[in-house]
Amino acid sequence: MEKNFDINALREILHQNTTQMTGKYTYREIDESSIYSELEDIFIISPQRLREICKVFVKEMEDGLKSDNCTLKMIPSFVTNRPTGKEVGTYLALDLGGTNFRVCEINLEGQSKVRLRAKKFTIPDSAKTADQTVLFDFLAESIAIFIKEYNINTESDINLGFTFSFPVQQTALNKGTILLWNKGFNCANSIGKDVVNLLSEALARKQLKVNVVALVNDTVGTLMSHAYVDPGTCVGVILGTGTNAAYVETIDAIPKWTGGPVKSNEMIINSEWGAFDNERKVLPWTKYDEQQDAAGTNPGKQTFEKMISGMYLGEIVRLVCKDLIDRKILFGGMSSTEMDTPGKFETAYMSRIERDHTAELTDTKMVLQEILKIPYVAPRDRRIVRRICELVAIRAARLAACGVAAVVTKMNRVDSGCTVAIDGSVYEHYPHFDSRMRDALHELFGMFSENVSLQLGKDGSGIGAAVIAALADK
Ligand code: BGC
Repeated sequence: MEKNFDINALREILHQNTTQMTGKYTYREIDESSIYSELEDIFIISPQRLREICKVFVKEMEDGLKSDNCTLKMIPSFVTNRPTGKEVGTYLALDLGGTNFRVCEINLEGQSKVRLRAKKFTIPDSAKTADQTVLFDFLAESIAIFIKEYNINTESDINLGFTFSFPVQQTALNKGTILLWNKGFNCANSIGKDVVNLLSEALARKQLKVNVVALVNDTVGTLMSHAYVDPGTCVGVILGTGTNAAYVETIDAIPKWTGGPVKSNEMIINSEWGAFDNERKVLPWTKYDEQQDAAGTNPGKQTFEKMISGMYLGEIVRLVCKDLIDRKILFGGMSSTEMDTPGKFETAYMSRIERDHTAELTDTKMVLQEILKIPYVAPRDRRIVRRICELVAIRAARLAACGVAAVVTKMNRVDSGCTVAIDGSVYEHYPHFDSRMRDALHELFGMFSENVSLQLGKDGSGIGAAVIAALADK
C-alpha cells in the first residue's frame, strides 16, 4: 500500500510531544494502528510477491536438478519405487533431526496397516556440538536401551532404517556423506563422512547386531509412509523444528543423474528447500531476519527455513519485541534477562498467545510476565505482542504454501492434483497454520488449489524409513 507519510518522522514527533508517565514506566504514546501498519508493511506478503517467489522457486529447483553446485541441492534419494501398501515385515527405525530423537519398532502388516512402538530420547545439548562419536555413541546406546526394554529379538540381525534429517549427499540407498549441520547441531569431525558408517561403527562398539539398510530424509519418509496408505501421495513436507520437502520426479527431468536407467523412471528427490534463496533475491528478508541469521551457527545458510520453521519463529518475535522495547514502544521500555536472551521466546509461546481468546489476553500476560519475566504488561502491550506473533506466523505459513505451490507446479500437477503429506510440530500444532497455507494456495492457484490436498502425515518419518527398508528387502 502507498503511504503518504513517513512513519519514523511521525513517531519522533509523537515521542517529543507526548511521552507520558504511566505508573513508574515511561510509555511513548504512539497510536497502536501505526505500529501495526509499520509491522504489516514488512511482514505481509502480497499475492503478487507470492507469485514472484513461486516462480524463482521453480527455477531454483530446475537448476538444482542440473548440477550439485546450486542453492537447492535437489538430492536424489535412491528411492525409486513407491509402496503398494502390501509390504510386510518388522524393522527398527531411528529418527534423528527434530527436537526429539526416537527409536521405533515398526511392524508393516500389509493392507496399509502399521503397528508402531516408539521411545523418545532427549539428546544432551553437549552431544549436539561435540565430536561426532559422542552423538553416535548416544544413538547406539539408545538403541541398546530400546532393544532391552521392548524385548526385541536380536538372534538374527535386525534391519534398520535411519531417518537422518540433515543435508546429506546420498550415494546409495544406505550411503551418504554429511554436507552440513543445522537446527542447533554442529558435530566436529563429521562433515564429508558417511553417516551410515558413523552409526554402524558406533553400533559395533556396542556389539549390537543391527544392519543399517536405508538412509532416509524425514521428508522422503513422510512421503513414503503416507503413500503406504494413500497412493496419490507425491509430496512429503516437514514443517517442524526445520523445514524441507521431497517429491516424486521423473528420471528424465534430472540431468545430473548419472546412475543409469531406473525401471520405474521415478526418483524421489529431497529438495533441501530450507536453503531456498540463500542469495536473498526474492524473499521478504527483514532486519529481524538479518539479526537472527547473523547471530546463529550457520549465517547465510537455510534462509527459507529461518523464516518458516519452529526453531526460528519465536526468535524473530523476540527480536521484534526487543526492537520495540528499545524504542520504548513496548512494555514502557522495560525488558528482562529472559527477553534479552536469544532462544528464550519459544515458538510454543507464540502458539499459546495466538490461542488466547480472552478479552484481556490473560494467557498472553501470563506468558510475558510469568515466563518471560517482563515486570509490567499493559493490555496494549499484550495486543501488540499478539499481533507480532500473528504476522510472523502468517508470513511463515504463506511462504510454506509458496514452496508447496512451486513443487506442485514443477511436477505439473496443478490440474491433475496430488496429495501432499505434511508432518512436523508447526503444521500439526500451530493454530491456523493449515488454513493460512490454504488461503495462500488459493491466492496462487485460484480454484485449482482444491486439487492440492494437504494432509497431516503423522509419525511419517520413522514409518517411512521402515517402508523403504521393506522395499529394499524385496
Ligand atoms: C534439514 C532437512 C530436514 C528438515 C526437516 C532441515 O533443517 O536440512 O534435511 O528434512 O530440516 O527436518
